[in-house]
Amino acid sequence: MRSARTLVLSLGIVALWAAARPQAIDVVVRGMVTDSGGKPIAAALVKATLGSRSVSRYTGADGRYELTVPAGTYALSAEAFGYATERRSKDTADASAANFTLAPSWSVTELLGSDIDALIPDDHAGSRLLKSTCINCHALDVMLRRRGATAAQWRTYVEKQMPLRYGRPFTASAAEWTVITNELERWFGPKGQYFGPGAEPPKPEQVRRPTIAPAVARATWYEYTLPNPRTMPHSLAVDRAGRVWIAGWDAATNAVLRFDPAVEQFRSYPVPTPNAVPHTPCVSRDGRVWMALNARGTAKAAVIDPKTDQLTEIRWDAKQPGTHNCQEDRDGHLWFSSLGESDEGFYSMGLIVRVNPRTGETKEYFAPDTPQIRGVMVDSQDNVWFAAFDNHKVGRLNPKTGEFTFYQPPTAKASPYSFVEDRRRGVIWFGDLNGNNLTRFDPRTETFVEYPFPSRNVNPRLGIGIDPQGRIWFTQFLNGRIGALDPGDLPRTPTSSRSRVQGASS
Ligand code: HEC
Repeated sequence: MRSARTLVLSLGIVALWAAARPQAIDVVVRGMVTDSGGKPIAAALVKATLGSRSVSRYTGADGRYELTVPAGTYALSAEAFGYATERRSKDTADASAANFTLAPSWSVTELLGSDIDALIPDDHAGSRLLKSTCINCHALDVMLRRRGATAAQWRTYVEKQMPLRYGRPFTASAAEWTVITNELERWFGPKGQYFGPGAEPPKPEQVRRPTIAPAVARATWYEYTLPNPRTMPHSLAVDRAGRVWIAGWDAATNAVLRFDPAVEQFRSYPVPTPNAVPHTPCVSRDGRVWMALNARGTAKAAVIDPKTDQLTEIRWDAKQPGTHNCQEDRDGHLWFSSLGESDEGFYSMGLIVRVNPRTGETKEYFAPDTPQIRGVMVDSQDNVWFAAFDNHKVGRLNPKTGEFTFYQPPTAKASPYSFVEDRRRGVIWFGDLNGNNLTRFDPRTETFVEYPFPSRNVNPRLGIGIDPQGRIWFTQFLNGRIGALDPGDLPRTPTSSRSRVQGASS
């Protein structure tokens, strides 16, 4: 279906990838997932992949699933925690049920970052430093890919290998290197407890995960592989027409990418400054797309004007570290934060600052017991939501009273990262990096629903977005994909260009 791929260059800077979807009739693939004793498995993930597109759903309490896909021959897989994944090919011309029987399997490679975080106690400085350093960009389960490495090999990897695609070194003091690499060897080294290559895995009862909510079985997930699957998409924003704007963060890509869900096509807008580290986009009311460039240097942001379809760089004082975040105010000013990496380090200690754009007056709020804050979002009621990343909570600041409230997601070691307000449903959504969930929080009932991502290692970063159909879009930083969640709780409406849209950053 997706074999036709053309490359068109226009104006010398714009590349268009077309993988146009031919007229295809949607069909339903259905079946049941059971264990070897014939007992239904609830919340098993069933995924159908054809070319660069996947559609996934979770089974209900009866173990049944139903996937609506364009006709074709799919790679179909079923997986559930504690069972071995099963794969097969499915031609939709064959209308018989696609049932799966999963065999039990228990391996550390199935654990998520939040499971590993809970198994490594916080009772010593080494584990605290490892967690606060190495969960900055991706969850802890990524370490399993290099298990068996000694302290020296960990150092070589992090120092030499990891920055290759990023284009910047990872910096730590000599003392920090020693503590971190010894701690890596202790858990992920040749004799690492639980995670070493020959280690006795933790007992299933040592891994406590919350029960997956029934609402998850109503949802459908869509995933799209980027034109170059080695691209590392950092953050995204959704515009009024439902198009998705993505930061092509890695040194080789160095571009703003656009995805149009209606035709399932990507387009790339290269950033002229090499290794500019495209970071967080936002869409202003006039439809322009802004991208904070996080590298040090003079190029600080890029803007794409939909009228000319051209990308232009914006520059200011070179001494400031790069930019992070992007938001338009009611007067049409664009706000960025200077939170790029500098020699002094780059994270705030639980500090939220309010700036009055007219007077320049600032007011500081310190969130209690909050070592690091990631995403900050002001909702339509002026509540300030923030990601209390390291202490695994969602924070809310009432700016009128200065009162802080913290909410604990069901996953104990969840790491909230980024928010989007969903005005239609009256809830907020956030990406949970360590727990690998897209999580819904209802401020009225103060309840969470965790939707487990349909792929491992999604590592959502600052920008997630919501489109006019109420689908929530996210990037998959280490997987070269983007994805969308349709919670399946709204009546189907045709996309209208006049529908109101709430972007991650509008
Ligand atoms: C500044 C962001 C950042 C931080 C902080 C970071 N990493 Fe990474 N890490 C990356 C990127 C980017 C990749 C992907 C590299 C690639 O795919 O080529 C990666 C990939 C990895 C991988 C996967 C290797 C593989 O074979 O796929 C491991 C293991 C890893 N990092 C370990 C660590 C450790 C240990 C730390 C803490 C000392 C750490 N990372 C901190 C950005 C980071």
